[in-house]
Order: sequence, then C-alpha cells, then structure tokens
Amino acid sequence: MSREDRRPRRCDCLGARRRELMVIGALAWAGTSVARALQLNERRPQVGDILVHSMGPRKGQPVRSDELVLDGPPQLAFPMDPSGLILDGLRFNEVVVVRVDPAQLDPEARAGAADGIVAYSAICTHEACTVSMWNDYEKMLVCSCHGSMFDPRARAKVVFGPAQRRLAQLPIRLEEGKIVVAGPFQGRLGPQRAS
Ligand code: FES
Repeated sequence: MSREDRRPRRCDCLGARRRELMVIGALAWAGTSVARALQLNERRPQVGDILVHSMGPRKGQPVRSDELVLDGPPQLAFPMDPSGLILDGLRFNEVVVVRVDPAQLDPEARAGAADGIVAYSAICTHEACTVSMWNDYEKMLVCSCHGSMFDPRARAKVVFGPAQRRLAQLPIRLEEGKIVVAGPFQGRLGPQRAS
C-alpha cells in the first residue's frame, strides 16, 4: 500500500447528511400526499363530480348516457372528482344508475333525474348488500342478498322484500354525455344503523 493510500480520507459528512435530509423530506411529502388522497377519496359526492364505472371492463371510465339502455339494466358507479380521483374510499358512495321513461318518473324522482336517467345509492337499506341486479320483467332494481325490489321511477321506494326504506337518490345532470352529480344524496344511506 502506498503512503498516498494510507492517508486518512476526508469524510463527506455534510453531503451525506444533506442527502439523508432530502430522502426524509421526499418520504414525508409522499406520505402526506398518500394520506391526503386517502382522505379525499373518502368524502361524499359533491356537485360537479362525474360518475364512473365501479366495475367491469370500463371500470374508472365515465358512465355515458348513451350506454344506458331504456328500462335497464343498470350500471354501478362511483363519483370521480374533477382532478380524476375516484371516491371509492367509502363503499356508501357507490350508486346504481339506470335509464327509464322520463314520462313515468314521479315528480320527486324527476327533480333529480336527467333525460330519464336516475342514480340511487347502491347500498341496500336492509342489510347493506349491493343493489346490483335488475328485474327485467318488473323493471325494478333488486338487492342481491334477500331480493328487496326498489322502483327507480318512484325515488326507489320499496315494492317487495325485507327492506323498509327507499334508497337515497343522488341528483344528477348531463354534461356532454357524462353523468354529473348535481347535489348531495337525498335521504339516508344504507340500513338505519349506518350513517
Ligand atoms: S340486504 Fe338487501 S334485501 Fe337484505
């Protein structure tokens, strides 16, 4: 080993400390961003949010008015905020969207509808299963667990089954074929015990 090699090397302690602080700062920033995103996607739907498919091959894509067939079947959707954040952090944000004949809507349901399209909470008021099925003969929304049926023309009132209370309606409007939230949920979400 040469004399040169045996000479003590200077420690770049300041540089190392600076890099350490940069890493800590980046991690803190990332942590705050994730926490903020999680917090945001747990808020309730607000005016201006867009409904997007919550499942299937078009998951995350806007539900378009022209893909909803008259008299069903319905589509399940979550709201998405204007920044593109899907509000799926709360299961109670999921809605079931269906198109019916506008002339058959009762006045209350019509007030929150757009071109015959209505959106209701997809959380059953009986035991909180997902209202995801459609009775094509009766043209009714059906809960997958115990078969409660809800009339989409009459603000989702119960017409059959153990549920005791209608589904909450989410008022909507149409913008360039997309379904946009026009107000907060009207009515209580899920079973009586749920918030
Ligand atoms: S949870 Fe929907 S009918 Fe029971």
